[in-house]
Amino acid sequence: MADKEPKWALIVHGGAKEIERGDEQANRDGVRQAAEAGRRVLTDGGSAVDAVECAIRVLESLPVFNAGIGSALNAAGGIEMCAGLMDGRDRSVGAVTVIRGVRHPISVARRLLPEKEILLAGEGAFIFAREQQLELIDEGELRSDAAPAQQEHDTVGAVALDRAGHVAAGTSTGGLTGSRVGRIGDSPQPGCGLYADDRIGGVALSGDGETIARVVLASKIMNRLEVGEKPQEAITSALSELPEVGGDDADGGAIAITRDGRVGWSHNSQHFAVAYVHERMNEPGVWLAKSEDSTAP
Ligand code: GLY
Repeated sequence: MADKEPKWALIVHGGAKEIERGDEQANRDGVRQAAEAGRRVLTDGGSAVDAVECAIRVLESLPVFNAGIGSALNAAGGIEMCAGLMDGRDRSVGAVTVIRGVRHPISVARRLLPEKEILLAGEGAFIFAREQQLELIDEGELRSDAAPAQQEHDTVGAVALDRAGHVAAGTSTGGLTGSRVGRIGDSPQPGCGLYADDRIGGVALSGDGETIARVVLASKIMNRLEVGEKPQEAITSALSELPEVGGDDADGGAIAITRDGRVGWSHNSQHFAVAYVHERMNEPGVWLAKSEDSTAP
């Protein structure tokens, strides 16, 4: 029954990928830390947008994830990042792509939410970050010896529902190792890598960015949620389109929360580190793959 659903909820992920042996604990600890940080925002009365930004800033700070510090190197050995944030209250979008030299791309996206523009690229995104007095960083500091050598499909993301009933979704990524300079995946594109609408819920994706964009996967999941499908089922059905369109290697994962607080996640990648928490949980649940989550909603 709707009145039994949690009044606030938060889910985060560390990317659809194969987690290297030895990195399991760092992935678990990282998503837990992000969920704890986002939970504090929500229980202190903060907004879903605040919680998503806060959780993703944690993930961007940890080199085990391909976002912010630890981002993948492109074919020229550079780091070009993308991030997106969507506010379900008014469906405003802030997103940046091929941005260089900022510590927290998600915060640049956040500052764009009230502006007319929804997506800034490259130098324009960097200039906006500088105007907003956000933290700039030498590219060398974004590189990390602790990051896995091959970062693949490793976007991070978060979705939150706050006590006021507002939904937000966010993504952040360093892209793909060895990709063409200027390549843009799904993560900053609303309807592809993320979407949020208070009337329905929110979703954030990770995975093969070109294929996710070709099938507008976030939009497909939202359509399923709108007609009442459970988030878990909506995601699982939508993800099955990836190999149909992109081939056997086109994998991904997604997290979602409905407007009434139902949480769901699924993936067809080998691993997908996830943590979620809502008002009836004492601490976040943390998993590296769906097969570990026997109590999945
Ligand atoms: N899903 C992240 C990317 O393809 O860039």
